[in-house]
Amino acid sequence: MNWLVTGGAGFIGANFVHHLRRTSPGDRVVVLDALTYAGSLENLADALRDPHVRFVRGDIADRAAVSALFAEETFDVVANFAAESHVDRSIEDPGLFLRTNVLGTQVLLDAARRAGTPRFHQVSTDEVYGDLPLDRPDLLFTEETPLHASSPYSASKASADLLVLAYHRTYGLPATVTRCSNNYGPYHFPEKMIPLMITRALADQPLPVYGKGENVRDWLFVADHCAAVEAVARRGRPGEVYNVGGRNERTNLDVVRTVLRELGKPESLISYVKDRPGHDLRYGIDPAKIGRELGWEPKTRFEDGLRDTVRWYLEHRGWWEHILSGEYRSYYERMYGDRG
Ligand code: NAD
Ligand code: TYD
Repeated sequence: MNWLVTGGAGFIGANFVHHLRRTSPGDRVVVLDALTYAGSLENLADALRDPHVRFVRGDIADRAAVSALFAEETFDVVANFAAESHVDRSIEDPGLFLRTNVLGTQVLLDAARRAGTPRFHQVSTDEVYGDLPLDRPDLLFTEETPLHASSPYSASKASADLLVLAYHRTYGLPATVTRCSNNYGPYHFPEKMIPLMITRALADQPLPVYGKGENVRDWLFVADHCAAVEAVARRGRPGEVYNVGGRNERTNLDVVRTVLRELGKPESLISYVKDRPGHDLRYGIDPAKIGRELGWEPKTRFEDGLRDTVRWYLEHRGWWEHILSGEYRSYYERMYGDRG
């Protein structure tokens, strides 16, 4: 198989490239990534020495560049991970999210359609469903839950999902969509909650918890998400959406306290800051369909996944210290400077 993995230099995309090299060493992988602030070739270091892996720097919204790549290569699967992915940044600059997440997806869909690519897989998020109330733990998102996005990020992802499903219905493009809950694990960019808390706690800096820390997310170890994407891209039914989640709901405060315990750091580092505008209260995924149809289940217990993740950040200080010393530093000042 010849895979096109867009966004393969980012957090989940890079984990997916490493995953494919383990599960399918005979497959070829072409990574298309613009290397924005969130992407780095360091995330792919070993993979880039593999003759089965090709890296192409390019923007998914650049029609000419995408056409040229599809003229050079014949892909069996396009797995679209490329996106602007951070909710807080989408509140600052929604336009960039529409360009990459919506128009970029459409450019890829057109290229796949013209080339007759046998499978287009869209990596999406549970955030397209909006949120659930905190006092109804019985309610979960299913694939039939109406789309009800809250942030510019989730609105752009919902728009992309609708385009992918429309290309299936209108043009017969064999497309699938996964909607996954919050991931954590190696290579997670330290603007996201778990790596932000790990790296700040290691430096004995305050941990900015939004609001009261009572918002709930369903955390899934990134390797489990990668296995789900592979299963759906290979065996999922075209035109179908599959929810992916960890059956592992936690309040933010609970997660932050677990990180502090793992690191042996005091809870006095927790600092409550002004809430995110439009902050989704709770995400809760029902992953029954992917379990029933494809036999996928989350395998990693949260306690184990978090311990491995903390260890990874301890063993890869160079990776994140490099990020924290660059452009990201001014981002942190801009985002959190007047929030406390
Ligand atoms: P990320 O921000 O870590 O990585 C995104 C990657 O896409 C980066 O390598 C970046 O350089 C690349 N990219 C951005 N714009 C591009 C463009 N115009 N052209 C080509 N490449 C571009 O994101 P992530 O957390 O790895 O998320 C990957 C995908 O999974 C996204 O589609 C996201 O919506 C989805 N998702 C993420 C989570 C999560 O918890 N992180 C959960 C569910 C779904
Ligand atoms: P995040 O990692 O940004 O993922 P998402 O917003 O896509 O779920 O945030 C996870 C949760 O953590 C979310 O409820 C917001 C909260 N959060 C904080 O409390 N402090 C922070 O500094 C960040 C980045 C997030």
